[in-house]
Amino acid sequence: MKLTMVGTGYVGLVTAACFADMGNDVVCLDIDPRKIELLRKGESPIYEPGLSELLHKNIAAKRIRFTLDKAEAYRHAEVIFICVGTPSDEDGSADLQHVLAVARDIADELERIGPGAYTKTVVVKSTVPVGTSHSVRDLIRSRTKVPFHIADNPEFLKEGDAITDFSKPDRVVCGVDNEQAAAVMRELYEPFVRNGHPILVMDVRSAEMVKYASNAMLACKISFINEMANLCEKTGSDINSVRHGMCADKRIGDQFLYPGLGYGGSCFPKDTLAVVGMGKSVGFDCKLNAAVHEVNQDQRSHFWNKVLAEFPGGLKGRTLAFWGVAFKPRTDDIREAPSMTLMQRSLKAGAAVRAFDPVAMDNLSKELPAVHRSTDMYDCLTGADALLICTEWREFRSPDLDRVKLLLKRPLIVDGRNLYRCETMQQHGFDYASVGRATVRGSTR
Ligand SMILES: NC(=O)c1ccc[n+]([C@@H]2O[C@H](COP(=O)([O-])OP(=O)(O)OC[C@H]3O[C@@H](n4cnc5c(N)ncnc54)[C@H](O)[C@@H]3O)[C@@H](O)[C@H]2O)c1
Repeated sequence: MKLTMVGTGYVGLVTAACFADMGNDVVCLDIDPRKIELLRKGESPIYEPGLSELLHKNIAAKRIRFTLDKAEAYRHAEVIFICVGTPSDEDGSADLQHVLAVARDIADELERIGPGAYTKTVVVKSTVPVGTSHSVRDLIRSRTKVPFHIADNPEFLKEGDAITDFSKPDRVVCGVDNEQAAAVMRELYEPFVRNGHPILVMDVRSAEMVKYASNAMLACKISFINEMANLCEKTGSDINSVRHGMCADKRIGDQFLYPGLGYGGSCFPKDTLAVVGMGKSVGFDCKLNAAVHEVNQDQRSHFWNKVLAEFPGGLKGRTLAFWGVAFKPRTDDIREAPSMTLMQRSLKAGAAVRAFDPVAMDNLSKELPAVHRSTDMYDCLTGADALLICTEWREFRSPDLDRVKLLLKRPLIVDGRNLYRCETMQQHGFDYASVGRATVRGSTR
């Protein structure tokens, strides 16, 4: 099928590459000339495992191309996927300006082209509040009489595993107004669900809500375990043991129940707030989602207070080393990353900050140029008064602890991801603070 992807971000680019790989003919449109230039050279503007290889293969096969030209992109398509960002606006609700701008562009192009041999389908893939896909439909209809179908097709991929998630989805959700749109969506997605996982066709408003309900549930699990972890610290329980005891219950399971620094990234924070905003707009108080967000924000402060407690004389003149900048491993995405909040607070408190992340250093330098770019995880530690762990990258799991101790000025680790056993750290002579477990003292200060 001939497809147009509008927006070449984390979702648009992965979706485009995976559809092209199934034999579809895909055009990617963006308004960012830098991204299109990189993509035309075969370079991915984002880090996502497996994406570069998939792009190279499909560029070579001429199944995917990149353009800044709206007319070219919209003429090409039988199906247009809107994959632009829907960030939070000032009051937390979703900012729909990019989605609506695309809707206007599509309408104007449809009007220029006129009715063609087939009816185009406009698919909203961005995460949007209930009613938005119909607003897109109504906006296009207000500018052209050319017929088209509308669909909402929320995306569930996880950054870091995006290609696998897209290629082997647990489910595909399609919200449609008529059987023709349903048929188009089934045809497109059937090659991805040969494993028997369902394509769930439903009404548009329900499809829009599935995405928010799913993200809100996952965010809720993370805030839940963090609240329990903080309670464990007060009661002298160990969250790791509590977690194991609790997760052995099949009704609970063990996914998304890791204590830590709370969620970040471009989805959970904004989507939880958007649920609260959606509630407000219809006079309904989404108390649980508001609390999930509050607990998540507090988790960063809770961790920060642990750092401050280790420096009674303040942080002025101290050096803090950060392992991990990305909001989670296997991505370069630093949007809403807990590390960013903590580095900003460190700088504000007068500390020098050194950081290392395997793939997010370029993004970090753009956002916080005052942070020293370390060349590797050990270089990062040189002369630091403490190591703060913010992302659970694999290479941080089994470091050379003797080397770490030698490089740090003081053997202090504040671990926001519970990467190590407390006993091991104590034996190696570290002061080690983690989440939901008692701080151990191994140094002979
Ligand atoms: N990132 C994720 O893991 C993820 C997962 C599921 C769903 N989502 C949702 O998907 C949507 C996109 O997220 P993302 O992370 O890919 O965003 P992103 O910010 O990485 O990419 C958006 C792209 O859209 C482009 N764009 C903006 N306006 C445009 C226009 N008028 N025409 C053409 N291109 C335009 C931007 O230049 C940018 O390249 C959001 O609604 C998000 O909530 C994201």
